[in-house]
Amino acid sequence: MWVIGAFLVTIVAISYIYSIYKWRTPKSNGIPPPGSMGLPLIGETLELLIPSYSMDIHPFIKKRITRFGPIFRTNILGRPVVVSTDPEFNNRIFCGEGKMVEIFFTDTFNDLLGIGGKDSKMGGSGAVHKYIRTLALTHFGTERLKAGLFTEIGNMVDHTLRLWSTLPAVEVKNASANAIFHFTAKHVTGCGQEKLPKNFWEKFKNIRQSFMSIPIRIPGTSYYRCAKDKEEVLNTLKGIMEEKCSSPQTRGGGDVFDHAIADLNTQSFITEDFVLLLTFVITFVSFDSVSSVLPIVFKCHAENPSASKELEAEHEALLKRRRENRNSPLSWEEYKSLTFTPHVINEILRLANLVSGILRRALVDINVKGYTIPAGWMIMAITHASHLNPDVYKDPLVFNPWRWKDIEARVTSKDFMPFGGGGRQCAGAEFAKAFLASFIHVLVTKYR
Ligand code: HEM
Repeated sequence: MWVIGAFLVTIVAISYIYSIYKWRTPKSNGIPPPGSMGLPLIGETLELLIPSYSMDIHPFIKKRITRFGPIFRTNILGRPVVVSTDPEFNNRIFCGEGKMVEIFFTDTFNDLLGIGGKDSKMGGSGAVHKYIRTLALTHFGTERLKAGLFTEIGNMVDHTLRLWSTLPAVEVKNASANAIFHFTAKHVTGCGQEKLPKNFWEKFKNIRQSFMSIPIRIPGTSYYRCAKDKEEVLNTLKGIMEEKCSSPQTRGGGDVFDHAIADLNTQSFITEDFVLLLTFVITFVSFDSVSSVLPIVFKCHAENPSASKELEAEHEALLKRRRENRNSPLSWEEYKSLTFTPHVINEILRLANLVSGILRRALVDINVKGYTIPAGWMIMAITHASHLNPDVYKDPLVFNPWRWKDIEARVTSKDFMPFGGGGRQCAGAEFAKAFLASFIHVLVTKYR
């Protein structure tokens, strides 16, 4: 009897050791990048999820760069992933869309926003991507900014800061996300705050907070609550859409919704569901990122009096040159004439580390630096690692806007990619920079 028992234990032990071996040495048509795959099933997910409260590269990444070099493999939630902190390779990935890689999002992102992967409703490539990009640029790009959106931003910032100045304290990230959300939601849906349900903003906030949750749809989990909130948001948007479709006089406000409704069925993918998801996603991406930069604007402003003085001088000089109202918002021409402010904005974006990783999936085997990334693997481009590269930015963690005066010729676009790169570079980049300039203008000319 004990012989059979010993035999079974040996079989189980061998199968276990073999499965661990297979997990740790993934199949590849060459040598996969160095790294470790962590524990079976969960890989190295837990270590990556530990929050980092520093402006520096996340310790998970930093430790592995030292051990394995700028490109290494890991495993997140059971998926093999190659992490790249190499600016040349990141640029290659961004420019290789469609041939070498495709856009990829985590399952939670994909389910909740429906924007990643081949099977997603919003699709990731071709005509769908082109349509979404054009729509976002039409409503938030340079031409729209010049045609009045920039002035509207200035008025909104003025109103918001006036309101904040009456309060005993303000939690900047939350308060600015709220203000920007209602501003962009108006441009997307055509509805002001008074017309949207009271908890509309709360729902978006909840969805944002659940992005990193594990996609298990069981009552009580944060993913479940988030999926419910998304359903309610889409129902509200559906109500707005039905009203717009049934009474055309409510259209014509030039918002994203009107634009997409007018395009309904002009291409096979522009269905009602697509339009609802599109308005949801554009509202989403437009408020979260910009509001995350504002706390850093305050931090840098408060901790660097000499930079603040130079900003104040630049904006005061601009007001002195004005013939008309000192209180009117920054004009587009004035914005374009600024020289120090864009350096401050660049430096803030360099340090902000807003995008923790940009995800793609390899469509074919990719060779890089003697290694092979197998087709189907996920690639995570960590662009902010090059923002903190001491060979390019001396004392990289120091806020030094003056570095941009001399650096510009030397720093290539690969060393500075806060908005990503290639054909998917952020469609809201001009909006975000213009918003930050407007914010700084009101802050330094009207408040201390
Ligand atoms: C500081 C603020 C912002 C940052 C750091 C940022 C960052 C990014 C990055 C890195 C990407 C590329 C993602 C990828 O390659 O997979 C992206 C894409 C995008 N962003 Fe932003 N973003 C910001 C603000 C905005 C705003 C305000 C809007 C809308 C008004 C916006 C709309 C978009 C859109 C539509 C895309 C997809 C572009 C495409 O696929 O062609 N972003 N953003």
